[in-house]
Amino acid sequence: MSSLTRTTAWQALAGHHAHVVQTSLPQRFAADPERFSKFSLRACGILLDYSKNHLDHDAMSLLLALAQQAQLPAWIEKMFVGEPVNSSENRPALHSALRNRSDAPVMVAGRDVMPDVRRVLAQMRQFTTALRSGEWRGYSGKRITDVVNIGIGGSHMGPSMVCAALEPYASEPRVHFVSNVDGAHLATTLKTLNPETTLFIVSSKSFTTAETMANAHSARDWLLSTTKNPDHIARHFVAVSCNPQAVAHFGIAAENRFEFWDWVGGRYSLWSAIGLPIAVSIGMDHFEAMLDGAYEMDEHFRHTPLAQNMPVILGLLSVWYINFFDAQSFALLPYDQSLRLFADHIQQVSMESCGKSISRDGESVDYATEAVIWGGAGTNGQHSFYQLLHQGSPFIPADFIAALETHYPTGLHHAQLLANFIAQPEALMMGRVEEGLPAHQHFVGNRPSNAILFQKVTPRSLGALVALYEHKTYVQSVIWNINAFDQWGVELGKELAQVILSQLTAAGSEASAALPDRAGDTPPSPQHDSSTSALLEVCRAALIRP
Ligand code: F6P
Repeated sequence: MSSLTRTTAWQALAGHHAHVVQTSLPQRFAADPERFSKFSLRACGILLDYSKNHLDHDAMSLLLALAQQAQLPAWIEKMFVGEPVNSSENRPALHSALRNRSDAPVMVAGRDVMPDVRRVLAQMRQFTTALRSGEWRGYSGKRITDVVNIGIGGSHMGPSMVCAALEPYASEPRVHFVSNVDGAHLATTLKTLNPETTLFIVSSKSFTTAETMANAHSARDWLLSTTKNPDHIARHFVAVSCNPQAVAHFGIAAENRFEFWDWVGGRYSLWSAIGLPIAVSIGMDHFEAMLDGAYEMDEHFRHTPLAQNMPVILGLLSVWYINFFDAQSFALLPYDQSLRLFADHIQQVSMESCGKSISRDGESVDYATEAVIWGGAGTNGQHSFYQLLHQGSPFIPADFIAALETHYPTGLHHAQLLANFIAQPEALMMGRVEEGLPAHQHFVGNRPSNAILFQKVTPRSLGALVALYEHKTYVQSVIWNINAFDQWGVELGKELAQVILSQLTAAGSEASAALPDRAGDTPPSPQHDSSTSALLEVCRAALIRP
């Protein structure tokens, strides 16, 4: 038994679960007209209604006791003051410093990092102002009309989600995103673009990520196929990276590198210079308004008692369902077209942070950690996967997210959208079982959800919303005693892909022709299983030129 499952709070929650499930959600509402006011809270312009959950006062008290037993308040403070909460890499996780809008210093290894943070924000402002005003021109003197961000994972998802969400604030240049190493992604993006008026942002913390480097090299070839002059790269490529040597080696000028630091995790980096495509799209004032919103949520998380603390409540609910209801999946359902990529981003934040089964102490855990996080824009999902949410067998708690106002004069549309946002959680909870109705038309109901509501998708509200989910994830990691800030689980597949690539690109294949310095390499020949060997042979044969 782990020290977590031995705690009195954990044991009590396990016992209390059996009691809680004896009362259905509709029965709880019928018994207590004050339920909404007891189980809802407002912070940073966000209303969280968590009343439609399998909770009573005692369950909430026990969850809060569990948080105290895990020393959550101390862990929150450790993160904000720059202690090395990323223990396997001995680093702080200071995304909060990137949006620290106060004058307070943030110390890392005895040094205040805030002057560096402000210096890079100023560099971003100068660059984006020059680009958006047309002062920064391409090699032939034409204005830059299109910016292509090349990056993957955290160097892609957050910025692309925010650019989609804040599209009403966008103006020229247009921003595009290329992440997939599938050449189709770059090719289809470049199809309508002109090298003379296109600028690339190569976003990579490490500047070694295979997909990003392949796309960046092909983009450089595309530019050089028109200009033929390598000196022109300086007007068309900038980099965001922690690796100055690799950036220089690629041929990007030192003054065109935007720095960030190893204490910023990839999936928490949209607040850093990794957010450069956001600032290009919406301008630096709006980018900083997004930081303001996140800072407000940081302050709420850091200083509010646990019982009124929104990220804490959301994190504890996830723990409650994952560990005591055996939930293996959570849906994020934004009723706002602009938030259509929100679940994708939070999927990386949650699953890369908490998808671990070794504790901070190096022990295998004997309890479940993160579930599968997925979702997509309502109302589209209602005509697709909601069937399973309403009548399927898995237990899937859902977060319904909506804004009261829209940027578009959409007449009845917004009322329809909000009607669905309200109706779906009610249908999930109330269900419908009527005498005379055939069984396939029954809805058993009793399915839990949260509702998250705010005024409008603005830079500020979006900043607060994203920070809310980041901190929720941290809360879960603290309870589970795992490190939320490393991602060793992605390494093995990357290493094997490198080995297999050298086998696929051995002399004679089409791919080897595209990588001249590899042609003729003798590939290492690890012992593959029969399935892998067969697949390798089929792919290798397809890559060999006739
Ligand atoms: O492979 C996972 C990962 O390391 C993510 O954590 C990260 O966001 C992504 O790859 C991209 O890494 P980089 O910014 O170094 O290219």
